[in-house]
Amino acid sequence: MRNARLGLGFVIVVAICGLLGIAARAALAAPLRTSATAKGLFVGAAVNMTPFRNEPIYTETLRREFNLLVGENAFKFDAVHPARTTFNFTDSDALVAFAQANGMAIRGHTLVWHNQLPSWLTGGTFTRDEVIAIMRDHIMTVVGRYRGKILAWDVVNEALEDGSGQPRTSSFWFQRIGPEYIAMAFQFAHEADPDALLYYNDFEAEGAGAKSDGVFSLVSGLVNQGVPIDGVGWQTHKVNPFRITTANQANAQRLAALGLEVSITEMDIRIALPSDAQELQQQALGYGDAVTFCLTEPNCAAVVTWGFTDKFSWIPGVFSGFGDGLIFDMSYQAKPAYTAMQTILEAGLGNAPPVPTGVQATAGSGQVALTWSASAGATSYNVKRATTSGGPYTTVASPATTAFTNTGLTNGTTYFFVVSAVNASGESANSTQVSATPQAASFTLSASPASLTVNLGACGTTTIGIARTGGFTASVAFTAQGAPPGVTATFNPSSTTGASTVLTVCASASAVAGGATLTVSGAGGSLTRTTPVALTVSTTTTGNGGVTITPVVAASGPWFNEEQVQVASTANLTALSVTVTIQRTAGVSFAGQFNTVGGQIAQSNSSTAAAITYQFALAAGQTLAPSNQRTFAAQASGSGTVHPTAGDTFAVTYTTGGQSFTQTGHF
Ligand code: XIL
Repeated sequence: MRNARLGLGFVIVVAICGLLGIAARAALAAPLRTSATAKGLFVGAAVNMTPFRNEPIYTETLRREFNLLVGENAFKFDAVHPARTTFNFTDSDALVAFAQANGMAIRGHTLVWHNQLPSWLTGGTFTRDEVIAIMRDHIMTVVGRYRGKILAWDVVNEALEDGSGQPRTSSFWFQRIGPEYIAMAFQFAHEADPDALLYYNDFEAEGAGAKSDGVFSLVSGLVNQGVPIDGVGWQTHKVNPFRITTANQANAQRLAALGLEVSITEMDIRIALPSDAQELQQQALGYGDAVTFCLTEPNCAAVVTWGFTDKFSWIPGVFSGFGDGLIFDMSYQAKPAYTAMQTILEAGLGNAPPVPTGVQATAGSGQVALTWSASAGATSYNVKRATTSGGPYTTVASPATTAFTNTGLTNGTTYFFVVSAVNASGESANSTQVSATPQAASFTLSASPASLTVNLGACGTTTIGIARTGGFTASVAFTAQGAPPGVTATFNPSSTTGASTVLTVCASASAVAGGATLTVSGAGGSLTRTTPVALTVSTTTTGNGGVTITPVVAASGPWFNEEQVQVASTANLTALSVTVTIQRTAGVSFAGQFNTVGGQIAQSNSSTAAAITYQFALAAGQTLAPSNQRTFAAQASGSGTVHPTAGDTFAVTYTTGGQSFTQTGHF
């Protein structure tokens, strides 16, 4: 590689021209060539002679924006060499003069190609030696004429077959000379201008694949043979969306290892017409990538577009239905692609926004709603989708906001998404992948636990869960059917947009014990879903309801006895009755009774020959709050004989938590 980037002298000359240009547009961003020159990069365009000669805005834009030009057709064989001994340099001279007057470098395109050859050549009957002589004469004359003025020549163009990368054996040059025509062409060009950079130029030579490998193998062979070759031109005629990838970088690097530079020589990114704003934004990413690539790869010398205004592009004439492939529109207005190149050239590298974080995917019916956190400096985001984890992803939207709902999806299919952040300097890497499976909008119910035992006079609860799918948002209202007589079912809340409700089932004391199935129904959004709850109403009471009964003999003597029932409760008591029975042993008779609760307790007693019975009863409708000490005392007098208290008994019946309990014992 002799001269990969612009020389310092060129930078100074162009910088002065650039400064003069900037003075009139002080507030505007700089033209492409200004920042490109400052970074040692060529940014060029192919020139169409018709507007070049006829549209002032065409030449104004060309000289303002580019520090390099290439003739779209003006240097081709049929243009400059119309008869065996006739050369016509009218157009090529005009381009060289224009470039020199405007401080622009020139790429010469192209010397040896199978297309755009004059019929005197292709139809002539020449020996192999004569064809070699014609080729040499052509190269010596054309390259020699511009010796010292052309930065780089596309010496040989498209010598390999599409797809396979094998030699293009149908080429006039291959047919008439043989494969060695390529090396010869480079030798002749070097002879004619030893300082010009000599390129092999082709399409689909940019990334990975058979064609790129064919180009690599061809130029490797030339380098190994000592043929004077300096670079490989990547035409880069692409279809939107196009992005530079690591394959392009790897390809540039293997060419660098051969000592070769690369240039993007004929870039355009065509769009199926009519194009829309999103497609133009995607296209901008491709152009921005090309600039980023060329600034990043040390052996990349130039980014050249094949034309610059959509008004004059070869695309519509060759690719039916496509167009809008360049960086200025039909009216010479800068497109997003231009702005992307400009911003990256001005800002340099490393200014792509950070990777988006916090990406969340919520499945709906036939859709997935995505949200993410804003990335500083992002002007838009690319939402990319795949149906296999890890990709390959397709960009489905490029919203300017941090949310996007992807509609039109298939329920039951799992989709994988990543999001990247974009600004004019470039695009971040992809976010962490999220996935979601769209489902029809609906809900299901489930009971936990699904079976419930409720004692007579008591209540039990279960949680009814609501599982929503497909973004079902309606409020669900609950009812229960199938409750047996005396059993009530209530819900809290009775309707909800939340994930659950609590079902409380209470059996009155008079309910019929036995089994039943409650059918819990939830109705919402014109849908009704049910879930069963198996119910058992039981007469079994277990435990003591948190009530402790302690018999205490407070006084025991020949003349006086006091026996107490002490009641401690941890919950409200809604009914309470205490009965103490003292044996009528010799001389024993009623002597009094009291309690520590007060007036809510009705007291009474009665005596028979066998026993004295003391009654204490809570008045109906009264409630006793929890307490650890309540005393119900039964007093008896004696006649000198010690009373055997162990034969005296008590019974306490109470209701707490809707359940009734009875505890009995003796003193
Ligand atoms: C194209 C020109 O743009 C057209 O005007 C012309 O009619 C045909 O050639 N690869 C090349 C270029 O190397 O020379 C071609 O240019 C486009 C494809």
